Amino acid sequence: MKIAIIGAGYVGLVSGACFAELGHQVICVDNDSSKIKALNKLHIPIYEPGLEELVKRNHRHGRLSFTADIARAVKDSLVIFIAVGTPPKENGEADLTGIESVARSIARAMDSYRLIVEKSTVPVETGKWVKHTIEINKKKKVTFDVASNPEFLREGQAIKNFMQPDRIVIGVESKKAEEIVRELYGALGAPMLVTDIKSAELIKHASNSFLAMKISFMNAVASVCELSGADIERVAEGMGMDKRIGRSFLNAGIGFGGFCLPKDLDAFISISEKLGYNFNLLKEVKKINESKKQDFIKKIENSLWNIKEKTIAVLGLAFKPDTDDMRFAPSIDIIEKLQSDGAKIRAFDPQATQKAKVIFRGVKFCSDAYEAAKGSDCVIIVTEWSEFKELNLKKLKKLLKQPLIIDGRNIYDPHKLEGLGFKYVSIGR
Ligand code: UDX
Repeated sequence: MKIAIIGAGYVGLVSGACFAELGHQVICVDNDSSKIKALNKLHIPIYEPGLEELVKRNHRHGRLSFTADIARAVKDSLVIFIAVGTPPKENGEADLTGIESVARSIARAMDSYRLIVEKSTVPVETGKWVKHTIEINKKKKVTFDVASNPEFLREGQAIKNFMQPDRIVIGVESKKAEEIVRELYGALGAPMLVTDIKSAELIKHASNSFLAMKISFMNAVASVCELSGADIERVAEGMGMDKRIGRSFLNAGIGFGGFCLPKDLDAFISISEKLGYNFNLLKEVKKINESKKQDFIKKIENSLWNIKEKTIAVLGLAFKPDTDDMRFAPSIDIIEKLQSDGAKIRAFDPQATQKAKVIFRGVKFCSDAYEAAKGSDCVIIVTEWSEFKELNLKKLKKLLKQPLIIDGRNIYDPHKLEGLGFKYVSIGR
């Protein structure tokens, strides 16, 4: 099947490469011509395990190409996925101007039936507006369908999520659209939920907000654990054994970051309000998330006495492991606050250094965890990269001015660390 994917960002690029892998003919479009030039030279702008190999293989086999020419892509394809960004506005609402402008361009270029699929995360009722925009801008008397097919990819495991999804959600208004989308994904044999467009749109926002709520709930429980002397890790284990709750997304820490959870939570609060529902529960989820970063800074302060002129080794900068994504990473607020309090920062991240260099001023970027620890007053763990779990802690201890680790992700066993002579501060235990 011939597919155009508009927006060669995270979602567009991963989906494009995976659809090509399934045997479809895919053309990825982006209005950033320098990005398209780089992609045509097979330079991948993001780090995602397995993506580079997938792009190269499908490009070599002629199933995946890149262009800045949206009209050409629309003319050449039956299905057009909209995967452009929906960044947050000042008030938390999703900015949908990119979606509208793409819908207009699609309308102008359509010369026969097309199926236009929303892939970007959009508030409920966007499908209605996309349909209206195409209707009033189309140049020829052609028919078309709009569908919603939200993505549930997690950075760091996006290809696996695409190829072995828990579910594929399709919101459609016609049998024809349903059949086309079913055929697109047919090879995966994954469970499919076919519904109306509005419900499909809502499933995405509600799912991400629910995940955010799960994390904030555990972060609140972690605070109670600290006050009572209970251990959040055991609490999570016990809760997670209940099949109705499940163990995943019960990890307390310094709060969720990344481009999806915080943004989708804000957008869901805001669209609910617009529709007439005050989603106070989600406002509290957001508040708890913000407070976790402040709590972490407090722990650092309590452990170092004064922050001023102390050197702090920061391990992990990306918002989570296995990605180089720095968007809404807790490391940003944490480092900026420590710097404003007068600390010197030595940082290491296995993948995100390049992107972090654009964000931070006055940070010494190190080539490994040991270099970061050298001469520092403490180590703080901000992202739970697997390699940090395997560090030679005896070596680390010798490099530090004092054996102090403040762990925002609970990656070590407190008894083991204390046995090695560390002062170890973690979350909720
Ligand atoms: C998320 C959704 O999971 C995915 O379905 C959607 O398509 C995009 O948004 P992603 O942003 O890649 O994916 O990251 P995810 O793995 O969900 O983690 C989000 C944040 O929550 C991270 O900052 C992570 O550190 C934090 N987190 C996750 C916790 O603090 N505790 C947990 O138990 C799980």
